[in-house]
Amino acid sequence: MIGVFDSGHGGLTVFRALVERFPALDFIYLGDHANVPYGNRPSSEVVDLTRAGVETLYRRGARLVLLGCNTATCVAARTLQQDWLPQSEWTGRNVLGIVAPTVEAATQTPWAVSTPQYPQKLNTDVIAVFGTMRTISSFVYPEEIRKRCPRATVVQQVCADLVAAIEAARPEPELDAIVKVGVDGLLAQTGAQPPHRAILGCTHFPLVEHLFRKHLPPSTRLLSQPEIVADSFEDYLSRKPQYAGSGARLKAPVLLTTGELESVTRTSRVFWSAVPVFQTTAE
Ligand code: DGL
Repeated sequence: MIGVFDSGHGGLTVFRALVERFPALDFIYLGDHANVPYGNRPSSEVVDLTRAGVETLYRRGARLVLLGCNTATCVAARTLQQDWLPQSEWTGRNVLGIVAPTVEAATQTPWAVSTPQYPQKLNTDVIAVFGTMRTISSFVYPEEIRKRCPRATVVQQVCADLVAAIEAARPEPELDAIVKVGVDGLLAQTGAQPPHRAILGCTHFPLVEHLFRKHLPPSTRLLSQPEIVADSFEDYLSRKPQYAGSGARLKAPVLLTTGELESVTRTSRVFWSAVPVFQTTAE
């Protein structure tokens, strides 16, 4: 069984892409709605909450957990993979982040290639990254992109309050105004040259992708992180078949939340009308 973890609704964008792409795999999702948003929390808290979420998914039978969360990936993935997992009772299980495949797609360079190679070493594109405060202040995206495309310009923009507004399913005009502030802030940094590509570097943001599309210049290509992650996961499973399913989905995808069941179900349906039923982790 494959686990997908996020602070709340955001990872559902990745989860949905994976469930659709891999009909033979069993999936379980955990949204830590009791503690969302993660993006303004100190790094140590993000690490602790992410570890707790990953352990919940392991306990429920996941052998591999994908962090469907950029904040958790930027802040916690390496610590969990290198320091915690090998010493834990969960050896033989694994945890993966979502930044590596996104950087691969943005730079057209495999993750394993971390020095500039032709032709990407000549790439002078402007690449926009929208994210939470914690993701943006980690500088993971610009550092990893510039290793592969040293001449590219990476412009980052925090979209403050957007995660909380999405979690609360605030009315569309309110979400629209928050996205517009973020996009305006980004465009004020890029000046005359609009971004060639934009990464929605928070898995909540594809839930309002149409609003980013509306405010970004038409020439800016939006990278779809859920699709990128699904593509990369397909490649990962071909190399690690031990995590692949038995050939037939055994049960319907399971969705867990640490939050309040009624409000989580109601607000998630605003963005995904056919979202499977959530169960509480409290049971
Ligand atoms: N979905 C998240 C991300 O990709 C988490 C945002 C948050 O909880 O602040 O960053």
